[in-house]
Amino acid sequence: MALLEVEDLRVAYGKIEAVKGISFTVEAGEVVTLIGTNGAGKTTTLRTLSGLLKPLAGKITFEGQPLNGVGAHKIVSMGLAHSPEGRRIFPRLSIEENLQLGAFLRKDTDGIAADIRNAYDRFPILGERRRQAAGTLSGGEQQMLAMGRALMSRPKLLMLDEPSMGLSPIMMQKIMSTISELKAAGTTILLVEQNAQAALSLADHGHVMEIGNITLSGTGEELLHDESVRKAYLGED
Ligand SMILES: Nc1ncnc2c1ncn2[C@@H]1O[C@H](COP(=O)(O)OP(=O)(O)OP(=O)(O)O)[C@@H](O)[C@H]1O
Ligand SMILES: [Mg+2]
Repeated sequence: MALLEVEDLRVAYGKIEAVKGISFTVEAGEVVTLIGTNGAGKTTTLRTLSGLLKPLAGKITFEGQPLNGVGAHKIVSMGLAHSPEGRRIFPRLSIEENLQLGAFLRKDTDGIAADIRNAYDRFPILGERRRQAAGTLSGGEQQMLAMGRALMSRPKLLMLDEPSMGLSPIMMQKIMSTISELKAAGTTILLVEQNAQAALSLADHGHVMEIGNITLSGTGEELLHDESVRKAYLGED
């Protein structure tokens, strides 16, 4: 049994079907990536897994438990965390307050304090500026905060939506190496990325999404070397 199983998932906004029946799994310990052009349905998929959107049809199972009809808070408490597209940190709250919000369902004060220290070990800049408003952080630093906040729920599955969006090449590298470190530490990750090269390089499995469908699946390695992927997503002709 995979950690996450998605079967024939369909999601619509009114009459517009954004996800048209996709199936994939995420095994514990894996990094799985969804790549694809704008509007393919990647964010819609993650938002549905988080319980923020209701599927039209299909089955979502997490650790063998159905997620259909389960509320967003309960889904976090079951171990699924989401670092959303555009980061969505709270700019007026301090960095530390943002991290604490990631632990809003936990009651173990000592454990939360320890995890905040872990976040500062992983991202020293967050510790140095912990009392400052999060809105003063650069885009890349805000991404670190968004990931740190998602990790505060001690997730079994971490979903990252476009973590490298809008970042300089150096910051993108830093974020990607953080994802590699998390993977090496055993974190299971579902990664949505525009940067297909970077995402496929570190993913165990990948799926190409096009207008609501998965059109190609393989190991990260296979997709990296696939001719159609290279043409469409890696800028080769
Ligand atoms: N709130 C909404 N209401 C109506 N349509 C929406 C809404 N959100 C997304 N859509 C549409 O659903 C489709 C899938 O959007 P989605 O954001 O999931 O794509 P994506 O793969 O994440 O794209 P991107 O790479 O640009 O982030 C698009 O056609 C989009 O316009
Ligand atoms: Mg998106």
